[in-house]
Amino acid sequence: MLHLTIRQLRVFEAVADSLSYSRAAEALHLTQPAVSMQIKQLEEVTGISLFEQLGKKIYLTQAGNEFHHYSRNILQQLLDAENMLTELKGMGSKLVISVASTASYIAPKLLAAFCQQHPHTQASMNVTNRETLLHQLAHNEVGLAIMGQPPDNLKLEATSFMQNQLVIIAPAHHPLAEERGIPLSRLQQETFLIREQGSGTRVAMERFFAEQDIKLTTGSEMSTNEAIKQAVQAGMGLGILSLDAAELEIETRRLRVLDVQAFPILRHWYIVHRKGKKLSQTEKSFQAFLIRQAGH
Ligand code: PGA
Repeated sequence: MLHLTIRQLRVFEAVADSLSYSRAAEALHLTQPAVSMQIKQLEEVTGISLFEQLGKKIYLTQAGNEFHHYSRNILQQLLDAENMLTELKGMGSKLVISVASTASYIAPKLLAAFCQQHPHTQASMNVTNRETLLHQLAHNEVGLAIMGQPPDNLKLEATSFMQNQLVIIAPAHHPLAEERGIPLSRLQQETFLIREQGSGTRVAMERFFAEQDIKLTTGSEMSTNEAIKQAVQAGMGLGILSLDAAELEIETRRLRVLDVQAFPILRHWYIVHRKGKKLSQTEKSFQAFLIRQAGH
């Protein structure tokens, strides 16, 4: 039996998430030597190095990486227990949701509306891409998640609550910006910027063009919607992203949505959790709140 403390796990989690002793110290309101000391003690207890230093940077070792899954899972269970007890005591509770990166454009508004109706809720949100989220759900490292439709083969409960339209964006003065009903085949003359492997937007885009039998020329790969928008504005190519992610740039006409046949690609946002997961009362209320939004 490992003699480790919850405090050591929290410190480990903070360092593993930020890969920086100083950022972890800041987040935990501790000094940097106190953080290093906790990690050192944890490594003594476990008998294995969890981090390694290469140059100025620290990285998780393979053992550290594996241990990270367990620590997340333990801390998630602790949060579930804490929420259950707070609810039984009739006090406010915490709501932690994890969202796929594109959903971070819609989730804050929904959380804000929910917290207005439930003023004693303290909400927080983690953002990651779809693939990481699926992994975390599978390992009980997160409770509720907002993402595009999850695959059927995982044991997940998923309910759609909102539309997500994928559109083609171009820089302000692109020659196609004023055209109407652009045929899909015309896109083959353009270069497209694409999201990273593991992105839901990318999977949907690839599936769509494969079904239409259209082969696109793909240029640079970027791991955030923000980077795609900046690169499109800078003239590096066209992009495909959720209308919600580019609302502001479209409104201010820095980016234009191209009027392409068969577009937008229609997707939905889903509220997801593991089958059999015991949701807290607050999680259940938030889930019900989102589903009501959809008018189900
Ligand atoms: P993203 O999209 O992973 O491309 O940010 C979320 C999703 O569609 O699940």
